[in-house]
This record gives sequence, structure tokens and C-alpha cells, in this order.
Amino acid sequence: MSDASQLPPPVLAVDNLRVAYGARVAVGGVSFRIDRGEIFGLLGPNGAGKTSTLSAIEGLVKPKSGRSLIDGIDTVQHPLEAKARLGVQLQSSSFQAELSIEQIAKLYAGLYGVHLSREQIDASMRTIGLDAELGKRFKQLSGGQQQRMALYIATIHEPLLLLLDEPTAGLDPQSRRALWQRIEQARGAGRSILLTTHSMEEAQAVCDRVAIIDHGALLTTGTPAELIEKHKDDPRVLEVAHGPVTLEDVFIGLTGSEIRD
Ligand SMILES: Nc1ncnc2c1ncn2[C@@H]1O[C@H](COP(=O)(O)OP(=O)(O)O)[C@@H](O)[C@H]1O
Ligand SMILES: [Mg+2]
Repeated sequence: MSDASQLPPPVLAVDNLRVAYGARVAVGGVSFRIDRGEIFGLLGPNGAGKTSTLSAIEGLVKPKSGRSLIDGIDTVQHPLEAKARLGVQLQSSSFQAELSIEQIAKLYAGLYGVHLSREQIDASMRTIGLDAELGKRFKQLSGGQQQRMALYIATIHEPLLLLLDEPTAGLDPQSRRALWQRIEQARGAGRSILLTTHSMEEAQAVCDRVAIIDHGALLTTGTPAELIEKHKDDPRVLEVAHGPVTLEDVFIGLTGSEIRD
């Protein structure tokens, strides 16, 4: 059984993906792979092309060229089969404003074709610490509660791959830790996760591997420790380091000190 064709395909294979809005190239041909049970972080400053990369994988924008395969399934040629394996948390989540948390859970379960009993919803809401908020509307929740709810909704149909766009942006440290724990639990349940962040701390705390992206191109890929080892003698990195080289030094060294708004 050493034949390579017997191996399962990677959970996500992105090959030379290009995204453009009119003449503006947002993603200029990126390639990477995510294996089973892996948390992969796409790190990049504002405007680097993170959301555009995710949008192309999700089928929200049509790539100009290249392709992405989820569990070996081409997302453009077989969008329904690919999406059935995908759970998505967009950069800013908003659900139907007038519905309660419980109604939202039921609505999305129904959309995914999953039956959830009252007991199952209660148990899930207890797990994510929202059992006291069942009657509240989404917009009445705190930022951390909203992100936990959005992550729960993204996993209702037990997808193989989760795409989380800046899942912890704007959260306080306690909420951020709670969400990291939820993301690690999702990995423990056999899912793979692609998340975007500009937090080096987050990349080091939860990501098995990361890629640094800027101006629509991947600059480097590896474990956080590998990236430090690989780039610690780069003069651009040494110039910005204060003492032993950190992942943030590598990030700033490779993407430059210019401020992006
Ligand atoms: N709908 C759009 N129309 C035109 N340009 C866009 C659109 N969305 C993003 N862009 C541009 O594409 C580039 C990448 O954006 P984005 O993927 O949102 O980056 P990130 O998520 O890393 O901040 C930026 O220059 C941004 O201004
Ligand atoms: Mg973005």
C-alpha cells in the first residue's frame, strides 16, 4: 500500500490561485496545502490578500486562474460537493437581526440539513457558554459571544475544513483564549482549520504552520519555529529585531515597516 494514489488527498490544496477586482490584482498566484488535523495560519498586514484568498476558496469570488481542491474536490467544478465539506466564518459575522440565538441555531441547522433537537441545542450552547443567552438576539451579544456563536454555526454540519477570517479580532484576552480553545477542540474533532490573523501571538499559540502573505504573494511558509530559524539572519529581519529574533521580527522584516490602513 505504498502507492501514492492510495493516500487521501490533502484537506485543502490551493494551486497558483489568482484573484483580481477589475485591474487590481489582490492575489497573484498563491499555492499551499493543509493536511488533516492541521491549524494553518495566513498571516499578513491589512490589504495583503487574506480575505480574497479565502473568498476564492469559498466560491464567493471567482478566481482568475488557479484552483483550490477541498478533499480532492475542485471548488469551481464541483461547488456543492466542495462546500458540503467547508465551514465558514466571515471577517464580520452578522446573522438575522431579529432572530434569537436559539432561532439562529435552528435556522442554520435547517439550511445545512442537520436536525438538532432542543436538547442538542441546549448542550451546544452550554459548551460555548451561551446557555443563558438563548433568548437574546445576535446583536445583543458581546463580541466574544458573537464570535463563539459564529464558530458554532460554522461547524453545525461537521465540516472537514473550517475557514476563519480574523476570528479573534477585537476580542479581550479572556474571550480570545476561549476561542483558541474552541478552535483547538475543532482540530481535536478531526477538522482542519485555515485562519487569518495579524497576531503573531495567536499564530504561535494555535497554528501548526503559517504562511506570511503580502501584496497577494506568499513570502514564506513553515512552522512558527521554522520561520524564525529560516529568516533569523536576513538583514531586513535583524534590522528590526530587539534582541533574539521573534516571529514578529520575521513578519515585519519580510513585509516592511510601512503602515497599512
Ligand atoms: N471588492 C473589492 N473590490 C476592489 N478591491 C478589493 C475588493 N476587496 C478587496 N480589494 C483589494 O484587494 C486587496 C486585498 O484585500 P483583502 O483580500 O481584503 O486583504 P486582507 O484581508 O489581507 O486585508 C486590497 O488592496 C483591497 O483593497
Ligand atoms: Mg481581510
